[in-house]
This record gives sequence, C-alpha cells and structure tokens, in this order.
Amino acid sequence: MKHLVVGNWKMHHTIAQTDAFFDAFFALADSLPDSIDIAIAPPFTALPQAARRLRGTRFALAAQNVHWAAQGAFTGEVSGPMLGELGVSYAIVGHSERRAYFGETDETVRKRVGGALAAGIAPIVCVGESLSERDAGDAYASVARQTRAALADLSDDDIAKVTMAYEPIWAVGTGNNCDPTEADNTMRAIRQSVPALASSRILYGGSVKPENVADYSSQGDINGGLIGGASLDPHTFADLLRNAARGLTAR
Ligand code: PGA
Repeated sequence: MKHLVVGNWKMHHTIAQTDAFFDAFFALADSLPDSIDIAIAPPFTALPQAARRLRGTRFALAAQNVHWAAQGAFTGEVSGPMLGELGVSYAIVGHSERRAYFGETDETVRKRVGGALAAGIAPIVCVGESLSERDAGDAYASVARQTRAALADLSDDDIAKVTMAYEPIWAVGTGNNCDPTEADNTMRAIRQSVPALASSRILYGGSVKPENVADYSSQGDINGGLIGGASLDPHTFADLLRNAARGLTAR
C-alpha cells in the first residue's frame, strides 16, 4: 500500500502565504519522492487558491473538516459537496483539536465520516489516546473504541475508502515523540479493531519532523504521516518527504 503524507496547516496561511508556499514547493517538486502520495490541507479560506495551484499536479487537496449534511442551517460549517466542487480528495475528521476545543464527539465524528463518503471524499479519521489513558495502560482500548465508533455501521466497501490517522494527543504539537515501535503497535490495535481496515492506510501524526520521520516510515504498520508544524514551510516539508522515502527503503 502506497505511503501517504498529508500536510495539515491548521489555522495557518492566508491566500498570499498559500501562493508563496506553492511557489517555493513547486520549485522543489523534482526532488520529491514518487514513492509517496502527497496531500495538503489548507484552511477553508485558502482551499480555492490551493485548488487552482494544485490542478494538474501530482499533489492532492485535503480539507480539515467536513459537515455531515449536504446543506442546511449550520452556521460556520462546510459540506462535502462544497469541498467536492473544489476537487478536494480527502477530509480530516475528528482531529484531537476538534475534539478538545470544539466539542467533537465520537458521534459527530461518525456523522462527518458519512458526510465525506456521501460526497466521494475520503475521510482521514483521527484517533488517539490521552496521556492518562496511556499511563493507565488503556491506549490500545481507547484507540480501538474510537475507531469502532467512527466507523460504526459502515459497509466494508465504505470502510475500505477510509484512511485512519493515529495521533497520540500528548504528541500533537508538543514536540513529545511517541516511540516508533510503540506507535506501530498502537496502529496494529487500530487496524485489528475493525476487520475491514485490513487494507486501509493508517497514518501516524504527532510532532513528526524531518529529523524523526524515517523512524516512523520504516515501521511496518505505518502507511504515512499527518504532519502539522513541519508542513508549513515548503523546504522543511520537502526535507520531511525525502527523509520519509529513505525510511521506506529500510522496511
Ligand atoms: P504536529 O501536528 O505535527 O504539529 O504535532 C500533527 C497534527 O495535528 O496533525
């Protein structure tokens, strides 16, 4: 299964900054590995410009969230058909920042997964344990529970379209790294929690940098990365992608 690396810009980059990113990133494109699928998730305001810039390139466009309804009275939300019109291929769902700061629950995550699939957009479903869950020995049970809830009652065909992302909450944006072998083990718990995930990609995310990415991409159960801080600068992100490809050759 081909590796996928997604740059999650979070609430960073205006339209002008998005243009500057792509000016520099495209200048580095020849140096980027073919062995990795690459996607960028800008904020909603920059999606149309990113879509224009990415059209006809090998890079895919991702959104940072998606609503479950196609349209309606949901102030501040964006729907799957709206994203599909822009050529969005992936939508991140259930990121730990959404769960922690914006009230997302297992139930809303499940509904958003449905909204993405209905629009032909592949959900990237984030799950991860808190530090107290890990310390209590509950990490595997926690991610398995979140995974089953996010995919509840979906057909095997739909589950096959889902990409999972394992992001230990305590490792996101903190600089605290999850030991790569332990990340691999936790990802196996995610895969085994829902049989139809057997051939789905599972990404790792949480303080992945150019310096440590190969430690993750070399692990057998890791099929890519969800990258926050290290995706904002085009040179750093290109370094990370090249190093990820080096890790792949060590598998
Ligand atoms: P980080 O974020 O790489 O800045 O830790 C990862 C993510 O939240 O997807």
